[in-house]
Amino acid sequence: MGLTQDKIHHISVLRQLVQKYLNLSKSDIAVDCTLGLGGHSQDILEKIGPKGLLIAFEQDEQNLKTSKNNLTNYKNVVFIHQNFEFLANELKKRKIKQVNGILLDLGLCSSHFELENRGFSFQKNDSLDMRFSKELTCKTAADIINKYSVQELTDIFREYGEEKFAYRIACAININRKIAPIQTTGELAKLIEEVVPRSRHERIHPATKVFQALRIEVNQELETLKNVLPQATAALAPQGRLVIISYHSLEDRIVKHFLKFQARACICPPHILICNCEHEPTLTILTKKPVRPSKAEIHANPRSRSALLRAAEKL
Ligand SMILES: C[S@@+](CC[C@H](N)C(=O)[O-])C[C@H]1O[C@@H](n2cnc3c(N)ncnc32)[C@H](O)[C@@H]1O
Repeated sequence: MGLTQDKIHHISVLRQLVQKYLNLSKSDIAVDCTLGLGGHSQDILEKIGPKGLLIAFEQDEQNLKTSKNNLTNYKNVVFIHQNFEFLANELKKRKIKQVNGILLDLGLCSSHFELENRGFSFQKNDSLDMRFSKELTCKTAADIINKYSVQELTDIFREYGEEKFAYRIACAININRKIAPIQTTGELAKLIEEVVPRSRHERIHPATKVFQALRIEVNQELETLKNVLPQATAALAPQGRLVIISYHSLEDRIVKHFLKFQARACICPPHILICNCEHEPTLTILTKKPVRPSKAEIHANPRSRSALLRAAEKL
């Protein structure tokens, strides 16, 4: 039998730095857009005290349930089973106009890799699911693998996985699915292993990039990130902080460009000599470069190795 949710332990990444950059005080209102198993939320609750309020989003039903248990001693948390891209709407419903801090710790939790039947890991032989939420999302990874055209598969493997052998893998999928639908992570991983030449220097499994691409497509991760950033900026009170941890360059690029754009005083095209855009900066960037975990943190929690933290303050 596999692990059960109560046995899963997710080690929250960059814990102290998240709190440093959020810079919350007693009685503040904060939003954790990615509750996960509640580690960062617990730190936030300690900072804001019993008179503060935490709004916590989690779209994964299992993680939400675990977090509610983990945070049962705190009475000032509003748990929202929803995609964070509905941030503005959910705050409006609760008549919350401004908040003092917003955290986005993107991507997956340990539970996604370790529990059975989630389909995120090529080290298990599960059904190809990969949905964060079985209630809020319809399309599974199996739907994509068996229904997308060769061109569509190639595009997502290339764009979301930065996979060099995208076309070759898409063609192999197309040949195999004509014989029988591809239903499991094991079948897909084996097929990729067969068509991707494995270099002796390659440290990652040949299926890593395709699995990342599928997960991003199933959960529309880059779109939801693009959608939430302006809502988060608008929801912050003056001096409110936005802290974002991403785990791959595609996410980090979106965050970096968004923050840079919001921090600019002028958005006129370069050939305009006298500024006429009347653009007002909304954010000050607090992290010139992304902040990474220390060697000691990576040693203690190897999953933290790709974390990139960026933070900004509302003007
Ligand atoms: C890296 S984990 C967060 C871990 C958390 N900070 C902790 O300390 O336990 C990311 C969590 O965000 C959730 N998530 C990812 N995208 C989401 C979205 N668009 N809306 C709501 N929750 C999301 C995932 O299901 C996962 O549980």
